Amino acid sequence: MRVLVTGGAGFIGSHVVQALTARGHEAVVFDVRADPRADVRDPAAVARAVTSVDAVCHQAAMVGLGTGFGDAVEYVSRNDLGTAVLLAAMAGAGVRRLVLAGSMVVYGEGRYACPRDGVVRPGPRAVADLEAGLFEPRCPVCGAELTAGLVGEDAPADPRNVYATTKLAQEHLSAAWARSTGGSAVSLRYHNVYGPRMPRDTPYAGVASFFRSALARGEAPRVFEDGRQRRDFVHVRDVAAANVVALEAGAAPGGLTAYNTGSGEPHTVGEMARALADAHGGPAPVVTGEYRLGDVRHITADSSRLRSELGWKPEVGFAEGMREFAVSE
Ligand SMILES: NC(=O)c1ccc[n+]([C@@H]2O[C@H](COP(=O)([O-])OP(=O)(O)OC[C@H]3O[C@@H](n4cnc5c(N)ncnc54)[C@H](O)[C@@H]3O)[C@@H](O)[C@H]2O)c1
Ligand SMILES: [Zn+2]
Repeated sequence: MRVLVTGGAGFIGSHVVQALTARGHEAVVFDVRADPRADVRDPAAVARAVTSVDAVCHQAAMVGLGTGFGDAVEYVSRNDLGTAVLLAAMAGAGVRRLVLAGSMVVYGEGRYACPRDGVVRPGPRAVADLEAGLFEPRCPVCGAELTAGLVGEDAPADPRNVYATTKLAQEHLSAAWARSTGGSAVSLRYHNVYGPRMPRDTPYAGVASFFRSALARGEAPRVFEDGRQRRDFVHVRDVAAANVVALEAGAAPGGLTAYNTGSGEPHTVGEMARALADAHGGPAPVVTGEYRLGDVRHITADSSRLRSELGWKPEVGFAEGMREFAVSE
């Protein structure tokens, strides 16, 4: 297959390019970082890029939580206008296969259960609670502490920040494109991706990258909240492999199929900081109690559908992956 990889010069995109090539496919990179004329918002450039490709793997986006609401225009422009331009070009050129870099952020706080009220959906955490060090979301009905469960693909969307909103809109646009053209769209809703070439030293980088940069400066990783917030850290090579199987398999034409893409092994942010600090030889993490509005407490999804339907299986374990990451590029 000849595959256009938007964002192919980025962290995850560059691993997708490698994985495609290793499987004998041809990957064509389309990324402003590699070529200033390769902007997904530029209809003429995108129209040229999609001629004679069999599929598009859409990784290009502005990522992260951002630095304030002022970033909203740029997020919407790159992520949603960019996706619309890309899909319109694919519709025009007859390209019918899309794999989208989706995200777990579309679920917001995810799935929780109250001992009394069953499955509930807590709203954003109150500033007063966060200030008081009460980090666990509470039952919206009775106020009891909740237990976090695994989020399935059918969980209702509940984006909590601008970035999350744009990732959800990318899926809706892709679904509309698939319906309108008979195309096949897969959204891989990635968890926290980490590994070699992870962006560093930008306010948009992921938490594993912040910790590693601190360690490299000889400083302790600063763990927010109480360190017990759970995430699913999935290795970038496993995410790249998921993209390859999704590109090869496609999806039922005329719609979008979403797959949670995680290791299936949740860990706390505190455990992750410790693993990196150990691998680096210290200093040990400090738990600061700080918080960021817009962060969710626990994000742990059920990634079994990707395994059962597409035969994908993560290969890089947490301890091994963090050891490698602590000392990688
Ligand atoms: N890293 C994660 O943990 C994570 C989690 C969930 C989803 N994602 C998604 O994965 C995808 C890849 O993210 P990443 O972590 O590799 O980030 P990244 O910043 O390393 O890669 C994104 C790439 O997109 C390119 N790009 C940005 N705007 C562009 C534009 N207008 N035209 C062309 N290229 C453009 C950038 O130059 C960059 O190389 C994104 O869609 C992101 O939303 C990432
Ligand atoms: Zn309750």
